[in-house]
Amino acid sequence: MGPARSPAAAAAAAVVVVVLVLASVAAADNMVLKVHHRFEGRRERLGDMRSHDARRHGRLLSAVDLPLGGKGAPTDTGLYFAKIGIGTPSKDYYVQVDTGSDIFWVNCIGCDKCPKKSDLGVDLTLYDPKGSSTADLVTCDQDFCTSTYHTLLPGCKPDMLCEYKLSYGDGSTTSGYFVEDNVQLDQVTGNLRASSSNSSVIFGCAAQQSGGLGTSSAALDGILGFGQANSSMLSQLASSGKVKKVFAHCLDSVNGGGIFAIGEVVQPRVNTTPLVPDQAHYNVVMKAVEVGGDYLELPTDIFSSGDGKEAIIDSGTTLTYLPSDVYNPLMEKIMAQQPGLELHTVEEQFSCFQFVGSVDDGFPVVKFHFNGSLALAVYPHDYLFQYRDNIWCVGFMSGEMQSKDGKDITLLGDLVLSNKLVLYDLENQTIGWVDYNCSSNITVKDEESGATYAVGAHDIGSSSKLVSLRISAVLPLLVGVLYTFML
Ligand SMILES: *[C@@H]1O[C@H](CO)[C@@H](O)[C@H](O)[C@H]1NC(C)=O
Ligand SMILES: *[C@@H]1O[C@H](CO)[C@@H](O)[C@H](O)[C@H]1NC(C)=O
Ligand SMILES: *[C@@H]1O[C@H](CO)[C@@H](O)[C@H](O)[C@H]1NC(C)=O
Ligand SMILES: *[C@@H]1O[C@H](CO)[C@@H](O)[C@H](O)[C@H]1NC(C)=O
Repeated sequence: MGPARSPAAAAAAAVVVVVLVLASVAAADNMVLKVHHRFEGRRERLGDMRSHDARRHGRLLSAVDLPLGGKGAPTDTGLYFAKIGIGTPSKDYYVQVDTGSDIFWVNCIGCDKCPKKSDLGVDLTLYDPKGSSTADLVTCDQDFCTSTYHTLLPGCKPDMLCEYKLSYGDGSTTSGYFVEDNVQLDQVTGNLRASSSNSSVIFGCAAQQSGGLGTSSAALDGILGFGQANSSMLSQLASSGKVKKVFAHCLDSVNGGGIFAIGEVVQPRVNTTPLVPDQAHYNVVMKAVEVGGDYLELPTDIFSSGDGKEAIIDSGTTLTYLPSDVYNPLMEKIMAQQPGLELHTVEEQFSCFQFVGSVDDGFPVVKFHFNGSLALAVYPHDYLFQYRDNIWCVGFMSGEMQSKDGKDITLLGDLVLSNKLVLYDLENQTIGWVDYNCSSNITVKDEESGATYAVGAHDIGSSSKLVSLRISAVLPLLVGVLYTFML
């Protein structure tokens, strides 16, 4: 694949670096080695396991309903998360869903600095490979490891674990080793009906955290990367023939939670734009920005493709980051509608103002236009979030996301993606969306029977409003820089 530009990163999502961990493979700590011993002799080649798995579960998963919780605004939980069962016997884990990264990982037993409690209304659980009869460790000579790193790790010997270290845009890191275990997903089997189904998936068992991941009060059990790299859970399910590489989310910023489904969505239909080829994540080409019916006059090459100037779609980021050449005229135009308003900086980060009344009446709709006549209409109640009574802040940020070569990056996060059905069709390499009521149902197709079934919204966890207290906890997660994969 070559050096792939990774997307960015902000609210704890968007992984940026998968670092080779040679030294630590040799120096694996005691816990790792002990765990490993327990599984010796049970190791199989990945290929063998896949075919074994396919035999055992010949049935397609086809359409999967992933129960969702959380709310996107920084004054709410600041993120969306899903519930997923892992292991035998199965335990529930709550993981942030992140289209800006690839790896699925959960906090593991014995983890240094993993959070124990969460303010999000969910119970945290440490995964214990020894406590699951279907767990297997992944060693550095297995296909998954060599293909994730695009090489056989130098110094790899048969019993060494496949370790990883991930760095996020906010500077936090997580490291651990890969394991393979059964993951229970809710297979859609009828209208608003699903039944649990096992799939063997390789994911990270986190042994160490640093930065915001270990301390955030918005703590979860891990992150579920929905990027398109071969290492993602989606790619693994697709390569064992269980699902098509198509998924959709509908993030409900009004009621919390929403819909996250794997499978072909037949209703609602969406207009699409092509994904920029050969990118690790979901990059699209923006063409223009319209504010209240007027197009902004922007430098002609501001969004040119192939130059790292595409927009990245990232459900793991809360806010939207724009190059300053876009941000400045955009803000000017938005504020022109309320000439008396005074902007203040709150929490050293947000541009906020006092406003009484309906923001939808007082501010213009912003439309981002993309290749293929696709527009993203962002309403004032989506790009503005309420900080306190009558204090509103702007969810657009200027020039803080930069690529390695210092170019400003456009990153579209939760706030602007919410209240829309967003469909990622990796089979056709397109992404699309349509305004949608995320508390209602969508219809997905079961590949095996051709039947179509309704999938409804969920809101797991309490996701109570935490108001301004949350801001300081979320803030450190919002600033980031881009890295590229080292290999
Ligand atoms: C990902 O998997 C596909 C199909 O198995 C393979 O053709 C492709 O080369 C892989 N990509 C990378 C970057 O390893
Ligand atoms: C998943 O597999 C385990 C081990 O084979 C089995 O005990 C469990 O009942 C299965 N769960 C489901 C939902 O099929
Ligand atoms: C890909 O595009 C084709 C042709 O437009 C369409 O028939 C097919 O359903 C699309 N694939 C998926 C997975 O939606
Ligand atoms: C959204 O759908 C839900 C469930 O069908 C319904 O109760 C609600 O009124 C809808 N909201 C809007 C704004 O239409």
